[in-house]
Amino acid sequence: MTRRLGMAVLAALVLFGGILFYVGYGFYDVGADAPHWEITRKVMETVRNRSIAVRAGRIELPDLEDEQLVLKGAGQYAAMCVNCHLAPEQSDSEIRPGLYPKPPNLSEQRFDPKTVFWVTKHGLKMSGMPAWGLGHDDATIWSIVAFVTKLPGLSAEHYKDMVARAPPDEEMESMDKGDGKKPEKNGKKAGAGMSMPTEQKGEHKH
Ligand code: HEC
Repeated sequence: MTRRLGMAVLAALVLFGGILFYVGYGFYDVGADAPHWEITRKVMETVRNRSIAVRAGRIELPDLEDEQLVLKGAGQYAAMCVNCHLAPEQSDSEIRPGLYPKPPNLSEQRFDPKTVFWVTKHGLKMSGMPAWGLGHDDATIWSIVAFVTKLPGLSAEHYKDMVARAPPDEEMESMDKGDGKKPEKNGKKAGAGMSMPTEQKGEHKH
C-alpha cells in the first residue's frame, strides 16, 4: 500500500468515525423548531425541485375548466388543505407556525397544475405534506388541482361561496373510494363524463 492510499483510508475512517459519533451521541437536533443548516436546506431544496419537475413533466394535463369539477375541488380544499395552505385573506392558522418547512400560501402563490397534481397525489417526504393519492382517486385529485389553480386572486367572499356550493360530502365519498374507478356518468356529478388521465405507473419505489 502506498503512503498516499494509507492516508486516504485513514482520513475516510476518521470521517466515518466522526459521523458515527455525531449520530450515535444524538448531537443532531431533529426538532422542527431547529432550522436546517444553509447547505442542508439548499441540497434538500434542489433534490426536491428536480424530483418533482421530472415526475410532473410526465403527467398529461386534462381540461380543468369544468365548473362542477372546480366546485368539487373547492369542497375538497376546504376539508383537507386549508389549515396548512390558507384561504384568501386568512393570514395564519393554528398549525402553520409549527410546520417546517412552512407550506406555501396557495391563496397567493400559483403553482403549475402538473406540479400541484403530483405533489398532492404523492406528498413530500419529511415535510408534513401528505400523499392524498393513497385515499383518493386521480379524478378527485384533479378536481383539487382545478380549484387550486383558480385560488390565487379569489376574494374571501368568492372562496366561501364556492366552498358552500361544493357537492355534499356523501356524494364526494361515493365518488372517492380510492379504488381507481371513475365517477358514475349521470351528468350530475362533478367531472362526470370528463376523461381524467390516470398517471403512468412504474415509478421506482424507495
Ligand atoms: C399538514 C399540513 C398540510 C396539509 C393538510 C396539506 N399540505 Fe401541502 N404542503 C405542506 C407542506 C409542509 C409543504 C411544503 C413542503 C416543502 O416545502 O418541501 C406543502 C407543499 C405543497 C405544495 C407545493 C409544492 C411545491 O412544489 O413546492 C402544494 C401544491 C401543496 N402542498 C398542495 C396541497 C393540497 C392540494 C393539499 C390538500 C389536498 C395539501 N397540500 C394539504 C403541508 C400540508
